[in-house]
Amino acid sequence: MQVISKIDALRQALWQHRLNGASIAFVPTMGNLHEGHLQLLDRAHEQADIVVASIFVNPLQFGPGEDFNGYPRTFENDQAKLTERGCHILFAPSVEEMYPETRISATIVKVPQLSGIHCGASRPGHFTGVATVVTKLFGIVQPDYAVFGLKDFQQFLVIKQLTEDLCLPVEIIGAPIARAESGLALSSRNGYLTAAELDQAATLYRCLADTRTSIDAGNLNFAELEAKAQSQLQAAGFTPDYFKVCCQQDLQPASTEDSELVIIAAAYMGKARLIDNLHFHRL
Ligand code: PAJ
Repeated sequence: MQVISKIDALRQALWQHRLNGASIAFVPTMGNLHEGHLQLLDRAHEQADIVVASIFVNPLQFGPGEDFNGYPRTFENDQAKLTERGCHILFAPSVEEMYPETRISATIVKVPQLSGIHCGASRPGHFTGVATVVTKLFGIVQPDYAVFGLKDFQQFLVIKQLTEDLCLPVEIIGAPIARAESGLALSSRNGYLTAAELDQAATLYRCLADTRTSIDAGNLNFAELEAKAQSQLQAAGFTPDYFKVCCQQDLQPASTEDSELVIIAAAYMGKARLIDNLHFHRL
């Protein structure tokens, strides 16, 4: 695996592959890689000849008081995992390479409607930070395909929307959520939890699964189901942020007419803010 930290060097390496007619799939990450990230790599391999991953903890998507400084940085370990999974090129730029001081916050990419709700309401500026860095990374890597996890369902929709609106020539692929045996979605932020909190955290997935079961059984009183899940989360030691039954397409509250649904949730446990979702076709 080639490890490249400079934009020019990456462009040069990719130019050679393109000359050879190779297709390129890209997997952007912030590192501290777990099996969920690595499955995105597998998906990228299925799609294209050359797989490029990036590791960049993007300061623009962290709010004041959030965990930018404390975000786990495990570069050596990540490198070994990517090599083992057959990644061809790892792009790992510095903050200065991505945001030269003279140009810091010069241009931002904002996807207004999707960015202001749910996680965007609790984390103002977060999705603009994500949209801006992903657009820059697409400009740098110019991939044919880019693979994102459906664990971050709202992020996935933001990226799909910006790609469409800006006519970017990249196909966005969504990959399934990788979970622990307990159902807990794998996340770099699970590392913030104590052993006892980890046990309790699986309640988040159980609430999603129970809500889906109730919906499939014909209970379409979404407000009641949401309230029930919120109190179950509280009982398990979570401080819920939101738990909502939404329409998959635009994340607006679901109506009883909608059948493509996503139940999205975010909740605080100890030092961690965990998110998860269940997207499904209502029976
Ligand atoms: P990060 O949280 O490192 O996640 C990188 C990618 O891994 C995202 O597409 C995310 O959805 C996916 N992912 C994380 N946990 C997963 C799981 N359990 N199952 C499946 N996929 C999972 O998301 C980001 O970084 C950043 O916002 C980024 C897009 C890189 C922009 O900075």
